[in-house]
Amino acid sequence: MRNKVIAGNWKMNKSFEEATQFIDEVKGMEVAANTEAIVCAPFIYLTNLVERAKGSNVKIAAQTMHYEESGAFTGEVSPSMLFSIGVTHVVIGHSERREYYNETDDTVNKKTIAAFDHNLTPIVCVGETLEQREANETLSHIESQVKQALANLNDDQITKTIIAYEPIWAIGTGKTASSEDANEVCAHIRKVVADITSQATADKVVIQYGGSVKPDNIDELLQTSDIDGALVGGASLEPASFKQLVEAGNRLS
Ligand code: 13P
Repeated sequence: MRNKVIAGNWKMNKSFEEATQFIDEVKGMEVAANTEAIVCAPFIYLTNLVERAKGSNVKIAAQTMHYEESGAFTGEVSPSMLFSIGVTHVVIGHSERREYYNETDDTVNKKTIAAFDHNLTPIVCVGETLEQREANETLSHIESQVKQALANLNDDQITKTIIAYEPIWAIGTGKTASSEDANEVCAHIRKVVADITSQATADKVVIQYGGSVKPDNIDELLQTSDIDGALVGGASLEPASFKQLVEAGNRLS
């Protein structure tokens, strides 16, 4: 059975005090054996938050990284730096990075490979725009993004990749995709993975949905056949709400 993976993506939010208080508040929470709870925090807080969360079931992730190990890349953070401070996961190819920071399918692939080279678990984001959905291009667009993201990975690495389906029109808009629509795309992602590897590999891959997930709609999403978790922005910012999201994972894992 696949784990239920609940990840909160804080994006560019929270003071240091708010960030540390959040982790202190959630780190004692119960996380079921088949559930994972992850907080994706700004770089500047990661070292402290990893220390604070030590010994708990809450994992700390970065929201992006460079794909190179080191070098003249002013302002960037490398995969080995993240690993060296105990970060376990990294979000790659979030639509906001693709839109504002020149993230492309090629850099997403390089970063995904680099994550595995440095023992980090990538959470690879894919998603269509409203125009693409209305033009009936959702499945072909997602297929192309998934294939490029996973190029040159071996089956073991693909098994460990978390794929987050986040329709761009549903992010921060309050418009959640219906659980049927979200599941249709997640099922298609699994089929694409099966085509490039095997059904057995595809059956193990964790696929999250993201886009206006909240405590009151997460159950319906997690009850579908192919959605194994959620990548949550706004509703992950309050400790009580984050805990409710993880509790849904506990209930349904
Ligand atoms: P919201 O949950 O705020 O819609 O954000 C989704 C998201 O982009 C998570 O990465």
